[in-house]
Amino acid sequence: MSDPYSDRGNKDLSLGNAKGMGMGMGNEMPRASGKSHAAPGGPFLIGENMTAGYGNGPDILHDCTIAVDRGEIAVIVGPNGAGKSTGMKAVFGMLDMRKGHVRLDGEDITALSPQDRVSKGMGFVPQNANIFTSMTVEENLEMGAFIRRDDFSDTMAQVYDLFPILKEKRLQAAGELSGGQRQQVAVGRALMTQPKVLMLDEPTAGVSPIVMDELFDRIIEVARTGIPILMVEQNARQALEIADQGYVLVQGANAYSGTGKDLLNDPDVRKSFLGG
Ligand SMILES: Nc1ncnc2c1ncn2[C@@H]1O[C@H](COP(=O)(O)OP(=O)(O)OP(=O)(O)O)[C@@H](O)[C@H]1O
Ligand SMILES: [Mg+2]
Repeated sequence: MSDPYSDRGNKDLSLGNAKGMGMGMGNEMPRASGKSHAAPGGPFLIGENMTAGYGNGPDILHDCTIAVDRGEIAVIVGPNGAGKSTGMKAVFGMLDMRKGHVRLDGEDITALSPQDRVSKGMGFVPQNANIFTSMTVEENLEMGAFIRRDDFSDTMAQVYDLFPILKEKRLQAAGELSGGQRQQVAVGRALMTQPKVLMLDEPTAGVSPIVMDELFDRIIEVARTGIPILMVEQNARQALEIADQGYVLVQGANAYSGTGKDLLNDPDVRKSFLGG
């Protein structure tokens, strides 16, 4: 058996455990094995054949499927308004699903509230309003740990190891930070629950190319600790370069999917979505 993380090296941050299960929440039984018992072959997290819209409004998602496997990074790209954020919100339980299912580690969680999904091990960084600007960096991280009743100081130390600038600025209001630093706060906040899977909606929005590269490096580092990552990205080419699996969404439906490499090499995808 090959190590699924070996192609990214093996720097251990122990944000999750090395087997891809995270360290688990305080209220959970430890598991004997890092592999899913319920669906050994299936993806770790999947929103399958999702049809959903807002309130009583029209369907925005049409039979849309997005998923991430253990140890992998999956990237969703597509034009503005394609439904990428709606797809993420549907997977996180923020919309009523009209058709389809969400499964986490083989378990059907379609009916669970977002908070219950967090308890199950999902971390989500939304596209907008993903930090508390008037609170300090450290207070933001503490808020992230809202669901934990155990001592989370080790996790906070791990987040500071991952994002050293946050430690330096821990007593500053998060709203005073740069765009890239705010995104680090948002990702750090989500990591405070020790998620088993992390969902990021445009983590590099509005940052310079250099900061984008740094954020991608940190995201790869998180994935290496065994936390699969499902993310939406506007920087499609760069994101697909680090993607094990990629999805192109158009008008709420899957237009193309494949490995990041497949999509980067697909002439139609290149022409329509990657600027040639
Ligand atoms: N809260 C909402 N209520 C009603 N309609 C919404 C809501 N949020 C998004 N929509 C609609 O859903 C469709 C998809 O929007 P969504 O935000 O999911 O696209 P996106 O692919 O994330 O776009 P972007 O690249 O701009 O972030 C759009 O037509 C949008 O107007
Ligand atoms: Mg969006």
